[in-house]
This record gives sequence, C-alpha cells and structure tokens, in this order.
Amino acid sequence: MTRTCLVTGGAGFIGCAISSILCEAFDRVVVLDNMHPQIHPSNNRPAALHSAAELIRGDVSARDCWDDLLSGFRPQTVIHLAAETGTGQSLTEATRHASVNVVGTTQMLDAFSRHDCLPRRIVLASSRAVYGEGEWRDADGAVKYPGQRSLQQLSSGIWDFPGLTPLPFEATRTQTRPTSIYGATKLTQELILRAWALSFGVEASVLRLQNVYGPGQSLSNPYTGIVSLFARMARAGQAIPLYEDGEIVRDFVYIDDVARAVCRMAIGSVPPAEAYDVGSGVPTTIRQLAVAIANIYGAPAPVVNGAFRNGDVRAASCDIGRTRQALGWAPEWSVARGVEALCAWIDARAES
Ligand SMILES: NC(=O)c1ccc[n+]([C@@H]2O[C@H](COP(=O)([O-])OP(=O)(O)OC[C@H]3O[C@@H](n4cnc5c(N)ncnc54)[C@H](O)[C@@H]3O)[C@@H](O)[C@H]2O)c1
Repeated sequence: MTRTCLVTGGAGFIGCAISSILCEAFDRVVVLDNMHPQIHPSNNRPAALHSAAELIRGDVSARDCWDDLLSGFRPQTVIHLAAETGTGQSLTEATRHASVNVVGTTQMLDAFSRHDCLPRRIVLASSRAVYGEGEWRDADGAVKYPGQRSLQQLSSGIWDFPGLTPLPFEATRTQTRPTSIYGATKLTQELILRAWALSFGVEASVLRLQNVYGPGQSLSNPYTGIVSLFARMARAGQAIPLYEDGEIVRDFVYIDDVARAVCRMAIGSVPPAEAYDVGSGVPTTIRQLAVAIANIYGAPAPVVNGAFRNGDVRAASCDIGRTRQALGWAPEWSVARGVEALCAWIDARAES
C-alpha cells in the first residue's frame, strides 16, 4: 500500500525542515500551503522543501481547496502546521488568526468526513502559548496561577509576579490558560482535534512547541523569530534592545531537534496521549540570548529599553522528561551552538 502524508503549511519553517525525513519515510508527501506573503514574499517554492514533496497552493480555511485536494489524494498521516503565528499581531487581528487556525482546522476535519477519508494519525503542532503564564510557586511552596499581567501592571514596570517563581510547563500538570489570541486559537485547535479524533477513531497527537529557531526561519516576517531578529540587529552593528528588564525567560529549541520530534510522532507508533512538550528543556533569558548573539558579531552590549508587548508572558520553559521517554527523543543542540549555526546561515545568505 502507498504510504501517504499530508503536511498543511508544509512550505514554512518547520515544514521544510521535516520534508526530507518525510520523503524518506513516505511514498507520497503532499504539502498544502497558501504561500502566505508574510512568510513567502517572493511566492517561490522554498529551496529547502524537499524536491519529492508535491506543493499544492491552497488555503486550509477554504472548503473548495479541500475538495480539490481530497478528490485525488487520501492521506494516511497528516501533520497540521498551517497557521497564523504572530502572537502580538493576533491581538488586533483576532479574526484573521481564528479564521486560519480554528476554521482552517474545522474545514480540514469536515473535509476528511465529507470525502470519507479518515487519516490514521493527525499530528498537530501546537504551542507553549496555550499555557499563558502557567504555574508559579510561592515562598511556602504552594502552586499558583497568577493569570495574565494587566496593561496597568506592565505600564507600571512590574514585570514579575511579586513573591512567585515560575515553574516549567508540563502538559499533564500545567493548566492551559492562554494570554494571547494566538494561544487561544492554538488551544481551540487542540480541543477540536481531540474531540473529532476520539469520535472517529483517528489517532490525534499534539506537540506543544516552545520557541523554535534556526536556519530556514523566515527573515522577512517581522512578527515571529526573535532569535533571527536579534542576529540581524547584531550583524548590523546595533545594540539589541531588550524588552521589559531583559529577564523574560524562554525555551529556545533548535529546528533540527523539533523536526526529529515531529517526525517521530508522525512516523513512529508513539501512542496518542495528553499533549507532549517539545523544547530544549533549558530556560534562557532574552538577555543571555542577546549577549551570546552580540558576542558572535562583536556588537555593542544589549540595552534594556523597558518596552513591553501586550499578551507576552514573562516566563516560558518546559519539562521534557515525558516527551523524551515517549518519543525516544532528546534535543541535541545547545543554544550556544544553535545560535552560531543560525548566524552562519544568515551570514551566508547575506553574502550570496
Ligand atoms: N516556529 C515556532 O516557534 C513555533 C512555536 C510553537 C508552535 N508553532 C506552530 O508550528 C506550526 C508551523 O510553524 P512555522 O514556524 O513553520 O511557521 P511558518 O509561518 O514558517 O509556516 C507556516 C506555513 O503555513 C502557511 N499558511 C499560513 N496560513 C495558511 C493557510 N490559510 N492555508 C495554508 N497554509 C497557510 C504559510 O504560508 C507557511 O508556509 C504553526 O502551527 C505554529 O503555530 C511554531
């Protein structure tokens, strides 16, 4: 039997990175992608997309597009990546985010039912944004959910939750409380997929990705990719501006590590379960990140500018113990090595 795989949004950063592994593992790999101009300004097929992957240009939120696709193709495995991904942008463009992320998901699932074409497994790339600020611990050891930082709090420069220390996210423990529209749409995707898949006997797997970075990330999209943004600033000899007090925490996970995790989930026989967290497992402040990048380029020291972004969370990192065990996977890239590889890639592009 022909082994078939569909990747929605497969011409993007993560889609391109998984394409060669998928083309090895499947007989036919089809990518459905609308070549969003914010990510693909030239509208050309990305060079990093494996040549054996068939690129179909189409919008996941358009019913006709699904009818055209599924009239000649029955995917056994689906990796759902297509999404609007700008966290900050989602605050003022909620409808656009919901249309693609939520309605795009329901259109896909309806199309599978309409064409009597149920995949064996659907893997959803979800996000750490579903947790919002997550869990924090007080001085007595009690776990608290402090919720979203208000505009008033941020405007007063109160960045942390006084007396509380952040805990790493873990899908079986941390409650989901998104603080951005983007995060809310990613959580909605999860809930819809899970309810649908259980009803139809389809395996649904959810991977909650932390901040993915590395070669291949769109350099033209100003709304995502803090690591490549910092690298381009330092390369231009600028001092990297640090939001809040520079102590915002993130888990920066290298693209190759994410690609291996997504493919393990898609190709292997890992049982669907609660969502799995995919990160490096190492919390890094944006100051640490910025200093590492500034040092690579000999740029001036990063400067705290006290600005903030509404809806941003203060601390995001994750415990990857359960994911390591279930997927037989481990991250291989440290931030130091990954950042060097990203900078080398940016340099090579600038020189070519
Ligand atoms: N990169 C990260 O740091 C990160 C972190 C957490 C979760 N994720 C999730 O991973 C997935 C992939 O992210 P990425 O970093 O590769 O993003 P990306 O922006 O590089 O790729 C997304 C792709 O989806 C396509 N797309 C957008 N709207 C579409 C539509 N309506 N129909 C069809 N295609 C559409 C774009 O053209 C693009 O090629 C997303 O679902 C995102 O939410 C990414």
